[in-house]
Amino acid sequence: MRGKVMLVTGGARRVGAAICRILHARGANLMVHYRNSAQDAQALQAGLEAARPGSVALVQADLLETARLPSLVEAVLDRFGRLDALVNNASSFFPTPMGEITESHWDELIGSNLKAPLFLAQAAAPVLRKQHGCIVNIVDIHAEWPLKRHVAYNAAKGGLAALTRSLAQELAPEIRVNGVSPGPILWPEEGEWQEEDARRHIIERTLLKRTGEPADIARTVAFLVADAPYVTGQIIAVDGGRSVNL
Ligand SMILES: NC(=O)c1ccc[n+]([C@@H]2O[C@H](COP(=O)([O-])OP(=O)(O)OC[C@H]3O[C@@H](n4cnc5c(N)ncnc54)[C@H](OP(=O)(O)O)[C@@H]3O)[C@@H](O)[C@H]2O)c1
Repeated sequence: MRGKVMLVTGGARRVGAAICRILHARGANLMVHYRNSAQDAQALQAGLEAARPGSVALVQADLLETARLPSLVEAVLDRFGRLDALVNNASSFFPTPMGEITESHWDELIGSNLKAPLFLAQAAAPVLRKQHGCIVNIVDIHAEWPLKRHVAYNAAKGGLAALTRSLAQELAPEIRVNGVSPGPILWPEEGEWQEEDARRHIIERTLLKRTGEPADIARTVAFLVADAPYVTGQIIAVDGGRSVNL
């Protein structure tokens, strides 16, 4: 990955930051996108740049502002002059029980998880094509097996899975498009999974009887970016076997 340039959305914290760290450790230069987590983004940048000065830049945007998305790609080109990989990691996540779903819930969940990845991919495609680059979408095993009380989120991630395959078809042969579907990796910071019982129930249903780590997702992203030249249109579940234990 040495000398290659990658744009990671929602890269300041949690799984996104792990993706940034592994891509950077393997030699990539990074444009780290964030929305509200400016301090985390700056801390991540400082840590990575201590190892390799000039290798990490930051861009702030709310991905619901679709008209701004091409400016993220422009920021990458202004700073680094090329783009080799786009990682669509940013995501909003919250329950939408039937009867209580509003249009703004729908807009936020579909906007961050599905619409932004499409319009970012469209903006990035001409420059990715030049480098024979790739796109990795961070999906969710619940794209296929719905998570209860999360209708709009499930639909958004289901759409992202379909988008992954469709973009692979549209952007071939120059650009590969793949996905990674995490199972339980990091618990959401609010909501029902603060309860020990809810966590135990989910862990019980994995085959490996534990949660994964952000690095498990990050290593799979790195594999798809750098070591999988004949893989496109695929979505790899990284879920401790949860999806075969129905
Ligand atoms: N954690 C898990 O166990 C798990 C399980 C299944 C799937 N996944 C998927 O893996 C990816 C990473 O998971 P995570 O738990 O690390 O995600 P997360 O912490 O819930 O969210 C990642 C980032 O998305 C950004 N974001 C949300 N809405 C945005 C918007 N409208 N515009 C711009 N940025 C926005 C936020 O950036 P700021 O903080 O800068 O605002 C946030 O830090 C996500 O795609 C998620 O769906 C995770």
